Amino acid sequence: MKKKLLILFLFFFTKVSIADEKMTLGLKVYNDKAMCGTCHTLKAAKSNGQIGPNLDMLKANLNQIIYVVKNGIGVMPPWDGILSDEEIEAVAYYVFNSTND
Ligand code: HEC
Repeated sequence: MKKKLLILFLFFFTKVSIADEKMTLGLKVYNDKAMCGTCHTLKAAKSNGQIGPNLDMLKANLNQIIYVVKNGIGVMPPWDGILSDEEIEAVAYYVFNSTND
């Protein structure tokens, strides 16, 4: 019984720290690599761009964000091939988690 609890604990602990790393990488991509904030408002990242929709209001779902970051939409450029899949996933995860409670 104790062993099961320990495994459960380790499982949650690892999951949380992986999630944290993804958030950190996501914020870095948002601010530095892709500079999403020049076009988008997102409170969590303290950005107030006005060219694209306000991400706090939009509350897009995760797959939708991954899709637009990869393929672009309107004047928003596609990042497929510029950012790695891991970076695209992380920035989408970051935006999703910062706007959907
Ligand atoms: C050059 C300015 C610009 C940059 C940089 C930019 N976007 Fe956008 N984004 C836009 C515009 C404009 C739209 C609306 C396009 C339309 O609906 O025609 C948009 C739309 C979106 C949408 C909504 C898509 C939908 O389905 O309605 C999301 C989510 C999004 N951007 C996320 C991001 C993320 C994350 C980044 C950084 C990786 C980013 N954007 C970088 C301009 C930008």
